[in-house]
Amino acid sequence: MNELAENIYQQFKDHFSVEPVLVRSPGRVNLIGDHTDYNEGFVLPAAINRAIYIAIAPNQQKKIRAIALDMPGSRFDADISGEVKPVDAGWPNFLLGSVFQLRKPGFDVPGFDCVISGDIPIGAGLSSSAALEGGLIYALNEIHNYGLSRLEIAKVGQQVEHTFAGVQCGIMDQFANLYGRENQLIKLDCRSLEYELIPFFDDEVRLLLCDSKVHRELAGSEYNVRRRQCEEGVEILSDLNPKIKTLRDISSDLLEENRGKLSAVVYDRCRFVLDENQRVLQACSDLQNGDLTAFGKKMIRSHTGLRDLYEVSCSELDFLVEQAVQLPGVFGSRMMGGGFGGCTISLVKKENADEVSRVLFDAYKKETGIEAEIHEVKTADGTGFTQTIK
Ligand code: GLA
Repeated sequence: MNELAENIYQQFKDHFSVEPVLVRSPGRVNLIGDHTDYNEGFVLPAAINRAIYIAIAPNQQKKIRAIALDMPGSRFDADISGEVKPVDAGWPNFLLGSVFQLRKPGFDVPGFDCVISGDIPIGAGLSSSAALEGGLIYALNEIHNYGLSRLEIAKVGQQVEHTFAGVQCGIMDQFANLYGRENQLIKLDCRSLEYELIPFFDDEVRLLLCDSKVHRELAGSEYNVRRRQCEEGVEILSDLNPKIKTLRDISSDLLEENRGKLSAVVYDRCRFVLDENQRVLQACSDLQNGDLTAFGKKMIRSHTGLRDLYEVSCSELDFLVEQAVQLPGVFGSRMMGGGFGGCTISLVKKENADEVSRVLFDAYKKETGIEAEIHEVKTADGTGFTQTIK
């Protein structure tokens, strides 16, 4: 049995003296397709074998009483009898935001006690926040029989980010958190929300995450700026045709023909998104054809676009990618997620993975003085109940 689950179960019993339910809620990776989700494009994420665990039970007190074992000042108590508002910062906002967003359509959310712990590196761009809100909303949905589907849970989670974290994110993280499957990647169309599971056997290759340990405060606000720049492009080009609602409605030719109508920056952002969507589709075909070399090349081009056109990379991430792609056994490497720090993801032949980790660690330390954290992760199932030995 998972030690983390066992531990939160025991701690919950010690603190609250009732029997909790246990939820496991995973982090995610994204193989290719970044900053496309909020542009109604394509993404290729997977849930991973790093997760947040929540032990939770209702209390009769109209209060949240929460203990996050891995966080400083880990206890958080809040009266939720009245209107719920964001607090200064930090993990409690994901709990409060979940209560707020569940109450919005009229669900009754009484008080609850919970103990939380996990092994998703925080701030590394692996969506620990989507895991926290996804796990909590899933648990409350089951406990109180709200009848929400997984898709509805994902959408509630996304709204939590919008309203209580101030990030106008897309749906990718929450979707991966809820729909993940072991040995599968999720090819998601963020317009229709239709998805296809693409087999991915990570016993043949390794997914290496290299946490640059760079966490930029500006990441959230810059993220919103990128989103607005894409919307600006759409707004201008929709003058040509009112049917144009998102970048998904704009063809490459149309963008090129009307390049002069856009500022250089807005053009670059739009160009990137259109290219990245094509790359995701082609990369999925590569994977289905078993052509990891072609797949890896698209990862590298994705990084170049994120660096030069979308401008969400940073020198540390660029360095990690430049180093990785020179090493034997590396199919591809790119920054992953929102950017401005966090992780790179590299697709590496199984037999080269240890050596690649070692070389990357040493090179990065020599270059930046920072000790990167390198994680080998596997695809895993999405959020669900888990058990502990009683
Ligand atoms: C963050 C957001 C996602 C997505 C990625 C970039 O992880 O939460 O919705 O936009 O950045 O692809």
